[in-house]
Amino acid sequence: MTPEFVTLKSNYHFLKKITINTACHKSDILIGEKWTNFRKYIPGESAVIITDDNILNFYGKNFTGLPVISISPGEKSKNLEVINKLAGKLLNLGIDRKGFIVGIGGGVVCDIAGFLGSVYMRGIGFGFVSTSLLSQVDASTGGKNGVNVGKVKNIIGSFNQPEFVICDPVMLKTLPDDEYLSGLAELIKNGVIRDSELVIEIEKNIDLILKRDTLFLEKLITRSIEIKASVVREDEKETGIRMILNFGHTFGHAIEAGTGIKHGFAVAGGMIIAADISVQLGFLQKDERDRLFNLLDSFKLLVKYDIPYDQVKRFILQDKKKSGEAVNFVFLEETGKAIVKSIALTKLMDSYKLLKTI
Ligand SMILES: NC(=O)c1ccc[n+]([C@@H]2O[C@H](COP(=O)([O-])OP(=O)(O)OC[C@H]3O[C@@H](n4cnc5c(N)ncnc54)[C@H](O)[C@@H]3O)[C@@H](O)[C@H]2O)c1
Repeated sequence: MTPEFVTLKSNYHFLKKITINTACHKSDILIGEKWTNFRKYIPGESAVIITDDNILNFYGKNFTGLPVISISPGEKSKNLEVINKLAGKLLNLGIDRKGFIVGIGGGVVCDIAGFLGSVYMRGIGFGFVSTSLLSQVDASTGGKNGVNVGKVKNIIGSFNQPEFVICDPVMLKTLPDDEYLSGLAELIKNGVIRDSELVIEIEKNIDLILKRDTLFLEKLITRSIEIKASVVREDEKETGIRMILNFGHTFGHAIEAGTGIKHGFAVAGGMIIAADISVQLGFLQKDERDRLFNLLDSFKLLVKYDIPYDQVKRFILQDKKKSGEAVNFVFLEETGKAIVKSIALTKLMDSYKLLKTI
């Protein structure tokens, strides 16, 4: 499918628009747009901002003119109780079916704002100002919204596209280091599964990336979103190719739940397990696995953890990608090419156990 890319003039670096047209929705992702321009993308009069307390501190002075609801930052807010409270606040503000939600924040705020927008009054419009690297390169594109149940992530949710997503890399300057690196893991993942040239760009420019060079980041974020958008256009509801975006996530989610480390660091660990299993089962050359290891290691994304085997197994059994006794697992064939194959859970866990005993 041919991607729709439009480059627009802007008085601010450059503005790149990537459009995702799905069966029922059109979603515009604007990279390099000045985030303070978000009001011009809101349809209608009645809108509310949902954000978190950190973003409110850094950027709240520019939120004038719209009601603001702020949640506690972090994963602990991603649950139905918070959705319930937010829905009550929208009712009190008189937000009706013509209302609009602007989520300004990282992946947590976008997931919450998107899910609330999908279910409040059976669905109202919503858009995002995506403020973390992780949400710019991943969470805010693609229309998946959801909340957790206990420690099990994103188990209640919806597929529903935001009307717009603004990704302004200038906002990444205030992002804490560990959050920035966590987002970088997802950016690397997008290259590793689909675009070896993006991986080469990252390998060649580690210093520029660590310095958070705005123009270079715009380029990388654009490419990463193009990759995700092309996959989502092919398979919005994740019945096939979209599953490659989950590379590293089967074990990554187990690591995240078992250790509490940040999503991207856990996914980096999960990518290495997936690459190791790919080597073990004959899909991937060992030197390609080592290349991935070195790249993740150069950003200090690989942290040591020790989770009991049974605990990992319990989490894998709860995985949404599980179907009966098998799981759809994303293997790597080479840098830039991932494949999804159904594998018996026992075989997957036996492979994992072998790695743990190496
Ligand atoms: N829906 C999807 O397709 C999808 C994809 C990937 C991840 N996710 C979800 O995204 C979430 C993780 O997203 P995240 O890493 O952005 O977490 P987050 O939203 O919790 O943000 C991380 C931290 O950084 C702060 N922050 C964000 N932007 C900032 C900025 N510009 N300056 C200063 N501080 C800032 C936040 O307040 C928070 O404390 C997870 O819940 C994950 O499940 C969803």
